[in-house]
Amino acid sequence: MNNFEYCNPVRIVFGKGTIARISDLIPQGSKVLMVYGGGSIKKNGVYDQVKAALKGFDVVEFGGVEPNPQYSTLMKAVTIVQEENVTFILSVGGGSTLDGSKFIAAAAKYEGDDPWDILEKGAAVNDAVPLADVITLPATGSEMNCLAVISKKETTEKLAFGSPLVFPKFSIIDPTVTFTLPLRQIANGVADTFVHVIEQYVTHSVNSPLQDRQAEALLLALLDEAPKVFTAPDDYDVRANLFWMATQALNGWLNVGVAQCWATHNIGHELTARVGVDHGRSLALVLPGVWRHQRKEKGERIAQLGRRVFQIDEPNLDKAIDATIAATIMFFQSLGINATKKEYGVTDEIIKAIADLVDSRGVKFGDRKNIGGKEIIEILNLCD
Ligand code: NZQ
Ligand code: ZN
Repeated sequence: MNNFEYCNPVRIVFGKGTIARISDLIPQGSKVLMVYGGGSIKKNGVYDQVKAALKGFDVVEFGGVEPNPQYSTLMKAVTIVQEENVTFILSVGGGSTLDGSKFIAAAAKYEGDDPWDILEKGAAVNDAVPLADVITLPATGSEMNCLAVISKKETTEKLAFGSPLVFPKFSIIDPTVTFTLPLRQIANGVADTFVHVIEQYVTHSVNSPLQDRQAEALLLALLDEAPKVFTAPDDYDVRANLFWMATQALNGWLNVGVAQCWATHNIGHELTARVGVDHGRSLALVLPGVWRHQRKEKGERIAQLGRRVFQIDEPNLDKAIDATIAATIMFFQSLGINATKKEYGVTDEIIKAIADLVDSRGVKFGDRKNIGGKEIIEILNLCD
């Protein structure tokens, strides 16, 4: 197992009726910026519950954070934080609103010229406004991690940053708020959860049997539970279980001491930045291509996934890999996710532009850092 350092200070408050707890959890006397998205919280009663819980606090609101939150929008909130002396940020919404809030928290205290440098140049985050969230969509795990992914449409970029200073102080997870999600978004969240586990598991083995079994447990539970949300969309327990799986898939427990890949995410982000495909769907499109391309490097682990999770009993390695890729695609299809590059508008020109941009940054993706522009073209040519 590799060396690791582990710290996760996020207080999770989980269950029905937990939004009311906000009033005890935010420090008294805080000046609060309440950040939200395009308005779903006003339709499903979450806005009213949060406002009721914030009674007595001095609150400023900032709505309109988009899916795949945009830098230019978030910078407007940064100005509000600075001008209004905001001391606490409360994100109310999905992963985009929360990621946007993390960026606002760090950018408001950034002392350099342009906070975009935090994303593009890895500029240090030395301070941040404390933040917390009411998370309304099970997918990203952002509620229990210190990561954020921010987009800049002017330059077709979508980049991530992480800092311990943007761990939420607390996260309220009330699964009842997910009943208003379109099933398409639930499907996206299941695909995202699945691929989060995969990118910490289908890597190169470092002899970490506990982490392997933890990842497999999560995947087995997800494969059991996900279909139920379509047949029993009103079942609270299914919603609660899926939410806790999404949270655990990217809260740092699975990746301690193991090799991590993230190539599917990195390429998926580039596709989203160019053609706007939903995050979860971008992953379902790219993952089979990554596996077909990295067959030699990842073959043993793909076959292990097939054997232990998809119950594929096939002694021949090549056949086991093929069967596991097919089973994974079938799982995505069972969620209603089956569009092709053509349907998402991913053309050869777009693929070339992505490859050139990645090369111009001088980065390589994957657990072996062996995926650059040339390999991205090969991978996307291996996707449907
Ligand atoms: O904007 P509103 O009106 O709130 O509507 C949202 C949005 O249209 C809606 N929604 C959210 N909760 C709802 C709801 N509608 C009805 N009822 C509810 N309870 O759902 C739509 C999608 O929301 P969004 O926040 O964009 O989805 P998600 O949570 O999947 O977040 C995606 C973003 O997170 C990033 C992605 O790249 C993408 O930008 N990720 C963040 C990660 C992290 N911080 O660790 C890791 C992930 O791999 C991912 O990259
Ligand atoms: Zn993801």
